[in-house]
Order: sequence, then structure tokens, then C-alpha cells
Amino acid sequence: MTRRQKKKIKKLCILILFLIVVGVIIFFLIKLLFGGTNSSKDYSDEANAVISAENLEKIYKFDYSKTLENILESKEYNDNYLEDYLKIDFVETDDFADKVNKYLNIGYEASEVNNIFKLSSKNQEKILNLSKQKDFSEYLSFRNFDINNLERYEEYKKENKDEDLQTVVTHVNLNLDKEFYTDTERIENPDEITTLINKFHYVDKDFVPKDLVTLFDSKNGAKLVRVAAEAYEKFIEAAKNDGITLESTTAYRSYSFQNTLYTNYVAEDGQEKADTYSARPGTSEHQLGLAVDLNDPNVSGARLDDKDFKWVKENSYKYGFILRYLEEFVPVTGYMEEPWHIRYLGVDLATKVYKSGLTYDEYYDMYLKEY
Ligand code: DAL
Ligand code: ZN
Repeated sequence: MTRRQKKKIKKLCILILFLIVVGVIIFFLIKLLFGGTNSSKDYSDEANAVISAENLEKIYKFDYSKTLENILESKEYNDNYLEDYLKIDFVETDDFADKVNKYLNIGYEASEVNNIFKLSSKNQEKILNLSKQKDFSEYLSFRNFDINNLERYEEYKKENKDEDLQTVVTHVNLNLDKEFYTDTERIENPDEITTLINKFHYVDKDFVPKDLVTLFDSKNGAKLVRVAAEAYEKFIEAAKNDGITLESTTAYRSYSFQNTLYTNYVAEDGQEKADTYSARPGTSEHQLGLAVDLNDPNVSGARLDDKDFKWVKENSYKYGFILRYLEEFVPVTGYMEEPWHIRYLGVDLATKVYKSGLTYDEYYDMYLKEY
């Protein structure tokens, strides 16, 4: 190859290189000026029709967004919220576009809207009727988080610094930031085995459980709901096999009987004291026909001795019962320890509650109540 030829090739190479560089620059310039990373082909025909009818071609400058597509298709597009739409993750739910606009309209930021969609559907509904709530992201993992109680959680947290956040949520849901017997709620389905009754939940005066049957060992006609009565017999037999003699004293108590008991206790001890060991009428597990008080006929001066109590504590769940009132539960239940009072829940649930180490109130709120 001659020197001239070599020079020519070199020039040609430089020219090609130059053209490539210019080409790349022009490509990026065009892209910057006339379009984004996507085009109309990314969006559905329906969304594209709205874009072109409303001159929203600027949308093509941004990355494809399923949220935006859904909002366009739903004819809910609001140009003020374009930047928010782009940051909101699409969620498969009824009226997604409508909800997004409503949440943004209340004043939530895109990141907060993403968090709202992580809440239960009940909370998502509730939030629509509230003014903008404070940051609740730290509560997202709690199944029983209730957006209506957010301010109360924050208050209660300040007063109870030793409690973890899950406990704070549960305790506020259980109204433990209020005086007992305030803001009480009527129980809608008192015949359910899982019914929670306590100082904030009551049944009607005339509520009598269905299917009450007399206990096999009853001397005075004590009754329980049939499934509980059957389980009770097995429980007493098992105790007997382990050398523990137990019998029933009272089980189901009508409203009026509970009323007589409570009134007498108040007369004797005053209301404050009576409230620590007797349920007010309408709030006793005995009215549900699911609780029975035990007695050991061989023990004098007490209903049960320590050996009985230990056995009941360690075994009742196997037969479907839990001890509802223990010393460590006093701050939650508001009742002193009652080693003799057992409550039927069925073997599965009683086992879970026993193993959780929680009061039934807490367990119910954390795992059973709908939120
Ligand atoms: N002694 C229990 C709390 C009741 O009266 O139901
Ligand atoms: Zn009792």
C-alpha cells in the first residue's frame, strides 16, 4: 500500500467516526426534543384515544405507567396530578382511578397513596371520610391497625413507652386508653363461640344462648351451650384420671341473676371493688353460656388449691377451655385472678390463645376481629 492510499484510508476512518458521533448526537437531540422513552404503542387504544382527544401527548415523554393508563381509560385523568400518577404503583382493585384521585384530593402525596393501598379495604374506605392523617407508615405491618385510632395510638404511645407498637395498637383498639365501661358496644352476634365480652362489650338483657344443656355433674341445674357442655365432661374426666377432682358451681347465668349478684357485691364492697371481681350485668361470659366456675370439693376455704390450679392452667386448652382471668392479665381484663373461671373456645382456638400467652381480648383483636 502506498503512503497516499494509507492516508486516504485514515481520512475515511476519521470521516466514518465523525459521522457516527454526529449521528449519535442527533439521535439523542431528537429524542430529547420530540419524545420520551416510549410511544403511543405502549398504551392501550383506549388510553391513546384520550391522550389524543385531550392533547396529552406530553405523556409519551415519560416511562409507561400502568396507573396512568388505567386513569386515562377510566376517564379520571386530572392534569394537576400527572406527576403523582407516575409515582403511584398500580393496584388491582375496584375503582382504582377514582380512589387515587380522592386520596390525592384529600392531600396525600404519591408515596402516602401507595401506603394507603397497603391497608385493609375497611381502612381504605375509612380514610376517605377523614381529613389528611399523619404519617402512618410505621403501622402498616399490623393486621389490626385502625386508621380511625391513629391519634389515640400516638397519645397512648407517649404514656406507655414500655409497650411495643403492636401492643399499643391492640390496647388502644381494646379501649384501654379509656375508663372501663365507657363507650360500650353492643355485641351483634352473641351466639358465636368466639364472642368477646368484656368491660366494653355487652349483650342485651334478654339475650339467652341457643341450645343450653345441663352439665353432667350439675347439682343445681348449671347449664352451658351444648358444645361447651360436652367438652366440659371430657375435661372433668381427664382431670379425674390425673387425680384432680373438680366440679361445676355456676355456669350459664341470666342477665337478671348476674344483676342480683352484682348488686349484692356492690352493696357489700362498694362498686369499685365489686368491679374487680364481678361483671356488671350484660358483660359476663356466664351470660354467653360459655363459662363455668370450678370447685374442688376436697378443698376447704377456697375453690381450688394450687395443685388444681396448676392442672387447670396446663390442661384446659386441650379440652377447648382457657383461663380467662389470670394475675398477669389484670391490666387488660380489669378483673382479679380467677383460677376457677374457665371459658370455652373450642380446642383449636383455645390452644392458639393458650400458646400465644395473650389475654383473649388481645388475641381476639389481633387475630380474629375484622379490620
Ligand atoms: N366473675 C366474672 C368476671 C363474672 O362475673 O363474669
Ligand atoms: Zn366465672
